[in-house]
Order: sequence, then structure tokens, then C-alpha cells
Amino acid sequence: MKKIGVLTGGGDAPGLNAVIRAVVKTACNDYNCRVLGIRNGYDGFIEPEGLFPLGQDEVRGILPRGGTILGTANRGNPFARKVTRNGVEFVEDTSDEVVAAIQKLGLDALIVIGGDGTLRISQELYQKGVPVVGVPKTIDNDISGTEVTFGFDTALNTATEAIDKLHTTAESHHRVMVLELMGRDAGFIALHAGVAGGADIILIPEIPFRYERVAEKVRRRQQFGRNFSIIAVSEGAKPLDGEQIFRRVGDAVYVPRLGGISLKVGEYIERVTGSETRVTVLGHLQRGGSPTPFDRWLATRYGSAAVRLAAAGGFGRMVALRNAQIIDIPLSESVSEIKRVNLDGDAVRTARSIGISFGDDY
Ligand code: F6P
Repeated sequence: MKKIGVLTGGGDAPGLNAVIRAVVKTACNDYNCRVLGIRNGYDGFIEPEGLFPLGQDEVRGILPRGGTILGTANRGNPFARKVTRNGVEFVEDTSDEVVAAIQKLGLDALIVIGGDGTLRISQELYQKGVPVVGVPKTIDNDISGTEVTFGFDTALNTATEAIDKLHTTAESHHRVMVLELMGRDAGFIALHAGVAGGADIILIPEIPFRYERVAEKVRRRQQFGRNFSIIAVSEGAKPLDGEQIFRRVGDAVYVPRLGGISLKVGEYIERVTGSETRVTVLGHLQRGGSPTPFDRWLATRYGSAAVRLAAAGGFGRMVALRNAQIIDIPLSESVSEIKRVNLDGDAVRTARSIGISFGDDY
């Protein structure tokens, strides 16, 4: 292995820089191999100034830094790329161009750090001959085949701290505080932060809720003299007889942007229970900041293991965490479906046992 590339794709997540650093250090120290940084996801292969050498000097001091020194793009799909010609926008399949650019560079491996979208694209590029190795990233923790993605723990800390802070106002003002958290189709952040922060109601995409059940829980608490409630809501939560709420619909280039369910829940609760209600949308604060020690540790192990996997010729595969060990699995297995909260698992069971409502008929 003489030359490998590394790129980050999709939304940023705390720990991306820690992976990049580990990739570079492992490649240099163990394999005397050069590393090429690719800017802004797959776009870097076809845009000017999109490639640059990444040595130990370039990764010095980045371990505690959020974001990615490579830049990223969550519309960087080579199979559906937005291009403008003569002032007119087109969506084009530029994957052959990307494959040709990778072949011309003579990369022995391409390490791709990304979420489900980027990994799916990488699996398709692997089928076209690109020697891809994947590293699972997302604050949502929704990638199949791995117990945890890096970035999740940091987001969880931010979300839990937000619930702790909302408790203060909730108790002092006798209010209902609704907190909207990220989580498109998987409710891990809301579930884990809700339990860790002592929320009273948790609404997640996996358990469609009824507005009346949410109001009932608030009223029951009032009857017992608890004049405040905390509701943690995933952005992707939806009522049993309704749909997810989007701020922007998706298309071939952009993924749909969720957001707004917390306002609906807040309005309903205030109207039906008479409790003063406030809504907070935590948004991208969950993706920012310095990674927690756990995320730095996991990201470093993933980055190092990805280089070893590349050296062993494990293309079309992804590093993953299982039973506290780093293993590798086929990318095809991980992208076949997203990971969701297990409704029969102990996490949901525990939440119910300690009196948390999911707004369902349970
Ligand atoms: O997938 C990670 C994530 O943070 C989701 O939880 C969220 O829906 C989405 O990205 C937001 O993306 P953007 O930064 O494009 O608004």
C-alpha cells in the first residue's frame, strides 16, 4: 500500500478529525504510506484544488476539534450531482468521472468516513471498482451492523445537558418544556438523552404517538402535584394518524429536511392542558463542539482499523463496533437498512418501567 485517500461525506459529526488523524498516523507509522486528503466529499475528485497531501503535520492538534478539516457535503452524490451549464441547472450522473479520477490517481484504497447516504454511494462505487473502506459516522447512531457510530456520544451529552437546563425553567415556572432533538428515522438521541435527563415523555420515530396520550401524561403529573413536564421529541417523530413534518422536501440532490413536530406538540399541550408550554429546537448544536473522550477513543480506533483493513485488501467493507471490539462487515450489509431503536430491547423497556410515556397506547 503506497497511497491512500481519505474523505468525509454527509453531515459533520464530532470525531471526524480524530478519525482522519488516526488514518494518517497509522498509514505513516505502520505502512510508510502516503495519504491524500479529498475535500468536500466526492466533490473533491472533480473540483479544482480538491486534493492535497495529508501528512503528520497537517493532522497535528486536530484531535479535540469538532467538524472536519477536509470539509464535507451532504449533496455530494456523484450519481446525482447538480451541475450548472450556460446558466441552466442539471442533475447528472458523474460517477464514471469520479471512478476515472480515482483510477488516475492510483489510489490503493479510499477511506470513506460517512453516514448511511455516503456509505450507500461508496458501496455503489465499490461495485464500479473503487477500493473503498468505510467508517461509520453519524450523531443519529442509525447505521446497521455497528453498535455505535462516533459522534453519537457527544450529541447525547449536548442533548442531556439541554434537558438538565430546561428542567430549571420547567420547575421554577411550572411549565411544559418541549425539546426537539435530531433523529430522522431513528430515535436514539431522544431516547438516550430523555432517559439520562429524566424526561417525562419521549417521542421517537419508531413509536407513532397519540397527542391525547401525551396530554394525559402531562395531566396525570399535574394531578400528583408535578406542575411541570419535560418532553423530548425526535425531529422524525410522527402521530399515529399523521406524517413526519418537513421544512423542506427532498429531491434527487438534497435529502428532505425535517423539523417542526415539537411546535405541533407544544401547541396541542398548551391548548388542551392549559399548561404554559415552551419549545426549544436544539438543532445543529448537537453536531458541534469537541468530541467526548468516548468519541475520540472510538474514532481513533475506527481510523486505525480502517487502514489495517485497507492493507489487508478488505475493500467494500466497513469497520464496526461489536461487543466492545472493532470488527469489519460488508458495506452491503450495513447499508441494506438503517438501524432503529429496538422496541423489545431493554432501553425502551427501562424507560417504560421508570414511568416515561412514549405517547402510545401501551
Ligand atoms: O444525519 C445527521 C443529521 O444531523 C440528522 O439528524 C438531521 O436530520 C440532518 O443531519 C440535518 O442535516 P442538515 O445539516 O443538512 O440540516
